Amino acid sequence: MTFTSTDPNMLNDWLTVGPVPSLQGCSQAAPRTTRLLGATVALWADASGTPQARLGDASGAALRVEAHYGYLWVCPSGQPVRPLFTLPEYAEPARRLVDCAGFGVAVSPLRIVENFLDMAHFPYVHTNYFGTTADTEVAEYRVNIDDNTGEIWANECRFPQPKASAAASGGVMAAYRYRVMQPCTAMLYKTCVHRADELDGICLFVQPVDDEHAIGHVLLLYFEDELSDAEMISFQHMIFAQDKPILENHVIKRLPLDMKLETPTRADAMSVTYRRWLKNRGQTFGVLPPAESSRP
Ligand SMILES: [Fe+2]
Repeated sequence: MTFTSTDPNMLNDWLTVGPVPSLQGCSQAAPRTTRLLGATVALWADASGTPQARLGDASGAALRVEAHYGYLWVCPSGQPVRPLFTLPEYAEPARRLVDCAGFGVAVSPLRIVENFLDMAHFPYVHTNYFGTTADTEVAEYRVNIDDNTGEIWANECRFPQPKASAAASGGVMAAYRYRVMQPCTAMLYKTCVHRADELDGICLFVQPVDDEHAIGHVLLLYFEDELSDAEMISFQHMIFAQDKPILENHVIKRLPLDMKLETPTRADAMSVTYRRWLKNRGQTFGVLPPAESSRP
């Protein structure tokens, strides 16, 4: 079966299909298979180590695939309208680059990105880590869309956190910056425990399996010399395990773009901007069709 979505926002962009090391031991005859936009995709590296991809159906049609930032990116149509986003922090030698493996979630990929942008859930979902129920207010912050890249940025975000990361030994007022690069990719910059003048980075590359299923790939770009990879990964797994049931319990699996359906508040400025940004792009993949969104 070929791709089930006709949304050019997805077909003509770069979509992740997992980390590059997942190709180890794979060949054209014995590829790794995964799912993307409702289709099976076969992946392997050729003799020179260059990643290759094809549709897993009878057509076996070749797909355009590239490796960037430790991950594989497929352009389903083969005709990307723009290059992949930039990630200069990936090349900074002082940062630890840690792939935290993928988390499967039965919900629209766009819901995962929106949840990632939502600070209001910290005290309730990540209690005693990213917030406490005694302090639930989200302070005002600034959101803008970059004229040159079209990316969403949120600046001057802050939240009091008892344990902001695996290495944190006490509470801090954590500073955040958020960035949405594509409908299914976002990252945040956050107060670094070890370096007051730097921000750690967390990337969320969501693999759009289909309209209501996704794999969230998490890449850490941390200034961290003490913790092991396993300790850093297990902290992220613990946090994501708190988000997963919340995400999967959405009655509406797809993201409604009609604000009337899920009333946003001032604290949801990023969510409002993200939904409007998707609507302006004419996003149809992973969203609730307008007819259903406008139901009373
Ligand atoms: Fe969360």
